[in-house]
Amino acid sequence: MNTSFEQVYGYKPTKKVSAAGRINLIGEHVDYCGGPVFPASLNLRCYVYGKKNNSNTIRIAHYGLEGYKEIDLDKIEDYKEIKFYNYEAGCAYQLLRSGKKVEGCDLFYKCEVPFGSGLSSSAAIENATLIILNELSGNDYTLFDTALLAQKAECDYCGMNCGIMDQFASAMGKKDCAILLNCSTLDYEYHPLKLDGYTIVVANSNKPHALTDGDYNSRRGEAEKATKELQKEYTFNSLSDLSEEKFEEISSCLDPVLYKRAKHIVKECARVHQAVTALDNGDILRLGELINESHESLSQLYEVTGRELDCLAHAAQEEEGCLGSRMIGGGFGGCTISIVKNEFVDKFKENVNKKYKESVGYEATFYDTSIEDGVTVEDL
Ligand code: GLA
Repeated sequence: MNTSFEQVYGYKPTKKVSAAGRINLIGEHVDYCGGPVFPASLNLRCYVYGKKNNSNTIRIAHYGLEGYKEIDLDKIEDYKEIKFYNYEAGCAYQLLRSGKKVEGCDLFYKCEVPFGSGLSSSAAIENATLIILNELSGNDYTLFDTALLAQKAECDYCGMNCGIMDQFASAMGKKDCAILLNCSTLDYEYHPLKLDGYTIVVANSNKPHALTDGDYNSRRGEAEKATKELQKEYTFNSLSDLSEEKFEEISSCLDPVLYKRAKHIVKECARVHQAVTALDNGDILRLGELINESHESLSQLYEVTGRELDCLAHAAQEEEGCLGSRMIGGGFGGCTISIVKNEFVDKFKENVNKKYKESVGYEATFYDTSIEDGVTVEDL
């Protein structure tokens, strides 16, 4: 089993890069409709160690797996279908396509972001890969451009038609801040994540999601279809531009499913702005209410939660000291976040886990998290 760079390759690495997983306070399933999102980058990260190997091959090893995978840079198109290493290959592919140099190198990954958890392990791997390849190849790059290229790798190479939120939060995150990102314009601003006396508890339902499985892409398709139908009634660019009043006025053209999907998007976008104001004003109670509303909307209107995430969020919402709880990320499994008063955190975890296990038959996992810078780069 792979344990370190030296153990796999027999010599020392020269660079160490890390990129963060993320949470999202609010603004779920709106990034691909140009809506606002409010994520933050986590202490749970993907670490990658690397050294140039003077060949035309990238060797990729992961902690806990056996051996390494060789990616031939002359055949970089050929790795789209392989499981597990396609994210890394997709990043090399996008760098080459964008005219950057990619030197052969040996890479060793240790990813602490749990896979399939809704905490964006894939974005963390993509950003870490792009940055270490740029560093080892001597390319100029910005974190902003890295996020865009990472999203391209995931959509065009790996077939997951995601929005920009995860890659952006992972690359551009800042310690103790949430990022308000406008996904239409890519304008962004940092807001201090001050939750005096409260903690954000991240809980993993341990039901893995596989976003490429189609549910995510199908929701995205429904959102696009609803947009097209509504645009026959009224001129607008994206669903995030519609006020709730305007939406209700023109929405009779939608079938019941598309109506629910579009209603979630319109109302979730409004909730993001209300949540930012609540946070800035120190009104954590209001922030908690909005987080609960977001979960209900994702459950009832967008239908991306499922039994496990509903059980986890509802068990949390009933607990003393918990102001709000909701699923984060693509859904169908993965994690929730809850805002919990500090003195109740231990009891909260114990009680929620007990109720969750009684209901679904297995335990949830709770992580100690903090909000940290998105990316770190070290010469070794
Ligand atoms: C996944 C995608 C993001 C976003 C979320 C839902 O994490 O990668 O782009 O759409 O789902 O908000």
